[in-house]
Amino acid sequence: MEMERYYSKRAAEYEKIYDKPERQRELEWLRRRVPELLAGRTVLEVACGTGYWTQFIARKAKKVHACDINESVLEIAADKPIAKDRVNFFKADAVTLEGVPSGCDAAFAGFWWSHVKKSALEQFVSNLANRLEPGARVVVLDNQFAEGSSTPISRRDAEGNSYQMRHLANGDQYEVLKNFPSSAELAEAVRPVAREAHLETLTYYWLLVFTLK
Ligand SMILES: C[S@@+](CC[C@H](N)C(=O)[O-])C[C@H]1O[C@@H](n2cnc3c(N)ncnc32)[C@H](O)[C@@H]1O
Repeated sequence: MEMERYYSKRAAEYEKIYDKPERQRELEWLRRRVPELLAGRTVLEVACGTGYWTQFIARKAKKVHACDINESVLEIAADKPIAKDRVNFFKADAVTLEGVPSGCDAAFAGFWWSHVKKSALEQFVSNLANRLEPGARVVVLDNQFAEGSSTPISRRDAEGNSYQMRHLANGDQYEVLKNFPSSAELAEAVRPVAREAHLETLTYYWLLVFTLK
């Protein structure tokens, strides 16, 4: 699919997204906040990409099982300076979660939720909840739409999903699904599996933290 292909081609330039000057203060806060929320836990990280967040989470978590669908990003992730006994990178689909280990008492998804079609979110949330231990903590980080900083939305489909045109350094162009859910949509999506949830909203990012029943 278009999104998978885009991230496979973009692997080498992916982390430039974390260089935007106006976002540095919030990113610095998130690099502390996210690992604190997952400290001491066995974490399943879905769509880990190049392991940008994995490297910070692994410093505090007991272990991170981090997966992505693309080999090219996993190769970059494997070169991150992370203690080998703290991380396990492997290939898996974030929606089906086939082959992911059991026994995780936490999960993290960074900039993945926004790429899931509204109609597939229920499946993603319920599959994830089924793979984790009861009472597990789930941390989801993603983007707020910020005028002037975010890539403009190029179109919306009938189901309400929004899309952006993304350009790679070599000039190739991809249309990528990128949703910016409201707090009500997020609350609605996790209600079937969560015993409590709260949303931390920044200018450029949102952080949803929920506890499974
Ligand atoms: C926006 S990137 C986020 C990467 C990383 N979590 C981060 O925050 O830096 C989205 C990632 O989703 C991965 N991806 C796309 N489709 C996927 C799927 N079906 N299952 C797992 N990962 C997928 C891409 O390869 C890409 O690494």
